[in-house]
Amino acid sequence: MSKKQRIDKILSNLGYGSRSELKKFCKNGLVKVNGKVINNPGVQVDVENDEIIFDGEKVTYKEFIYLMLNKPDGYISATFDKRDPIVLDLIDKEDLVFEPFPVGRLDKDTEGLLLITNDGALAHRLLSPKKHVDKCYYAEISGGVTEDDVRVFKERINIGTQEEPEWTMPAELKILEKGTVSRIRLTIREGKFHQVKRMFLAVGKEVVYLKRERMGALVLDEELAPGEYRKLTDSELKSIL
Ligand code: URA
Repeated sequence: MSKKQRIDKILSNLGYGSRSELKKFCKNGLVKVNGKVINNPGVQVDVENDEIIFDGEKVTYKEFIYLMLNKPDGYISATFDKRDPIVLDLIDKEDLVFEPFPVGRLDKDTEGLLLITNDGALAHRLLSPKKHVDKCYYAEISGGVTEDDVRVFKERINIGTQEEPEWTMPAELKILEKGTVSRIRLTIREGKFHQVKRMFLAVGKEVVYLKRERMGALVLDEELAPGEYRKLTDSELKSIL
């Protein structure tokens, strides 16, 4: 891997702004490399040996990696498990050197969008209960889902117990197809433990298939078969940074 990269790319990957913002920052003299002001955002910089200063502060370089995985059934969303395969078993060696980890958890039997990164600050922002990043799931539910369920989910529902209630935030439930197994799409704005399954249990129904399709602005690439992954594109990355 080349240690030399464009200065605008380096700084944008580190979260200092978009490539076009960085062009302006360079023009305005905010960027220095080895003591010299760099006005050209295309200048190649050696991230390990050159000293980069942004707006008077030294930039600490860390190579980040951002992967979109279509998690298959049967894998644990963790970096280690004694018994079961983990999602990192699906990642190539050349990407594992960056020590990535899954952002949040999908249940072992849940499929779909899982972001895998080594950017702890981003993971923290996406998972913070204060940020309410919405997550959209496709699910198949045993038992007819009703308009009553739509209404209840839109208000709030207790997924805890009577003694220790745990109320959900308003969630948007769309019925795609009713039947003995109903097909639905559900958007929630929090990420409580087994939340989707517990919401349906609370109305007497069972999730028989669950797949996450979206997390904030990040949408699962339907070209990815379960178990496949790819790097985020620049625009996907921008949308979540
Ligand atoms: N809700 C669940 O019940 N399981 C998941 O894996 C994700 C959300």
